[in-house]
Amino acid sequence: MPIPRETVDQILQAARIEEVVGEFVSLKKRGANYIGLCPFHNEKTGSFNVNPARNIFKCFGCGKGGDSAKFLMEHEHITYPEALRYLARKYNIQIEEKELTPEERMAQTEREKMFNINAFADKFFVDTLWNTDEGKSVGLEYFRERGYLNPIIEKFHLGYSPEKWEAFTEYAKQNGYDPEFLEKVGFSIKRQNGEYYDRYHGRVMFPIHNLTGKVIGFGGRILQSDPEKKLAKYQNSPESEIYQKKETLYGIYFAKSAIVNKDECILVEGYFDVLRMHQLGIENVVASSGTSLTTEQIRLIKRYTKNITMLYDGDAAGIHAALRGTDMILAEGMNVRVVVLPPEHDPDSFGKAYPIEEVERYLKANVKDFIRFKTELLLKDAANDPIKKGQVVRNVVETISVVPDPIFRIAYVKETSRLMDMPEETLMMELNKLLRAKFKKSLGVEGEVIPDEPVTTPPQEKPEEELLPVGYYQERELVKLLLIYGSEKIVDIRKNEEGQEVEEELSVAQMIIDDLLNDEIVFLDPVNRKVFDIYDQALNTDKLPDDQYFISNEDEQVSQLATDLLISPYKLDQWEKHGIFVKKEEDMLKMAVQSAILRYKDQIIDARRKEIQDQLKLEQDVDNQLILLKQKKRWDDLRVQINKLLGIVIAK
Ligand code: CTP
Ligand code: MN
Repeated sequence: MPIPRETVDQILQAARIEEVVGEFVSLKKRGANYIGLCPFHNEKTGSFNVNPARNIFKCFGCGKGGDSAKFLMEHEHITYPEALRYLARKYNIQIEEKELTPEERMAQTEREKMFNINAFADKFFVDTLWNTDEGKSVGLEYFRERGYLNPIIEKFHLGYSPEKWEAFTEYAKQNGYDPEFLEKVGFSIKRQNGEYYDRYHGRVMFPIHNLTGKVIGFGGRILQSDPEKKLAKYQNSPESEIYQKKETLYGIYFAKSAIVNKDECILVEGYFDVLRMHQLGIENVVASSGTSLTTEQIRLIKRYTKNITMLYDGDAAGIHAALRGTDMILAEGMNVRVVVLPPEHDPDSFGKAYPIEEVERYLKANVKDFIRFKTELLLKDAANDPIKKGQVVRNVVETISVVPDPIFRIAYVKETSRLMDMPEETLMMELNKLLRAKFKKSLGVEGEVIPDEPVTTPPQEKPEEELLPVGYYQERELVKLLLIYGSEKIVDIRKNEEGQEVEEELSVAQMIIDDLLNDEIVFLDPVNRKVFDIYDQALNTDKLPDDQYFISNEDEQVSQLATDLLISPYKLDQWEKHGIFVKKEEDMLKMAVQSAILRYKDQIIDARRKEIQDQLKLEQDVDNQLILLKQKKRWDDLRVQINKLLGIVIAK
């Protein structure tokens, strides 16, 4: 449900950045600002700045910055609406939700009912495990036998569902739950005769938690494999509005902060694998349990880290699953590494057989990037067979082709070239063939001929500076003036229609935008341009946007730019350093604006002059040379004028 715009503004204004951040970071007052250790990267010096006047934060170490909502989103890994709701609660602001339609209300109460029955069942299974004879002697004993200790059993809310066929169904019915609903959520199954029995009877129970820690479903394991009865080892909740297998990761609620801290997520396959790792003290672990890994699950992890380590069984099935997983993870632009366990082990049994030091040593010694994993695996049976080796190359290059970032692709090609002792160019050609085929496919023009040139260009190794458009820093200076003083009024002297000089009061934004547009100049940098356009449009109305509007702008790049520029104050008194003493604040502002405009124009003109100079060097025709020389003269003159003006402005 969207929060009304006015309420959003109200919330963002009420939120005090130093209070919001202060709950998570210890801050020290430094002048008008606060300084602390950045929670987003490891540091020993305080690069993390909080500016109460602008109500924003900014880390000069890692570059993160923004308003209170942005801080919460980054720090707590929550969405924008979630951050707003958090702030609304903190500052006692009522969020006027829009009226629900009857269908929406039904759907909502249905979801609530589902959370409710799952919480109810969770309590029942946990109670049964700890407080009944059967629970203790069968369920708890089972966990004990597998080497699990109380803290883990308690933390994960492991439970037990009694052997008796209708134990839970009856208990739930007594507590007012309708058996049809129990069937829908998966706790009960209907017999031919219309009676209901427990889906999970005689199983140990694993509640499955969502991101916020609510139980959304269960997995139940039978206690002994019984090949006679051919019972499935695990029974899982059916899908529902609150439980979608492909979007769920077992353990994510307990793992998320460790994943962020270690900037790595270890991915395993089963419930017990997660439990074992946690018991060993390795907590950044989740399982895809019950489905093969999905893109949705990968994206869920991506909210916390870009690095996944797959820790899969050492048997053929595990290796196959890992191979499939690597391609999916790479396609999401993430980094993937693989650890293969000895063939007789899964993470649970491995972690039971060895102490933590040994497990950690093994992980460290056996972790492989996906290229090494794949080449070593495939080369095993290619041996010295050149045809097979060719197939392996193609296979590895195919994997590289799913990586979205061209720079990473090149790095992976280098690595493959080294590992397989193949020339980079050969691999690159193979890769480009694949990329072209994919590109064609994406256009839906399978048959069409595409020119035979490489799709991948090597990364440009120019320093960043050179890629910036002409006058970039001067543009930013003007944007900063717009953001801070945009609606401030100054008195300018303009010529009216009769050519007389008249005083006119106008806003800083008006002064900048009009001046540039008169000379047909627009900002070249796309983000600066966005700010320019916003002001340009606002000038047609009578309300200019304020800094809050830019800081909490829905366009991420705009809000980032605003935060970067607004975090440090604009020094209007910089002129005093030049030995010029200006009394009035307003005069200083006017000077700052005028000289910023001039300095910007100076850059642009200088670039045009240079362009012509370059053309002149190549031009053979004398007449053309003359034309160019005249143009150059015009720019030169303009520059002289501007520099004069700059001098005047400063000297006035
Ligand atoms: N799984 C399932 N249904 C099955 C078998 C497996 O949902 N019939 C899921 C479970 O989430 C299980 C995971 O797939 O945890 C991995 O399966 P497996 O390796 O067979 O189970 P383990 O977790 O190793 O369980 P155990 O150690 O008890 O055999
Ligand atoms: Mn196992």
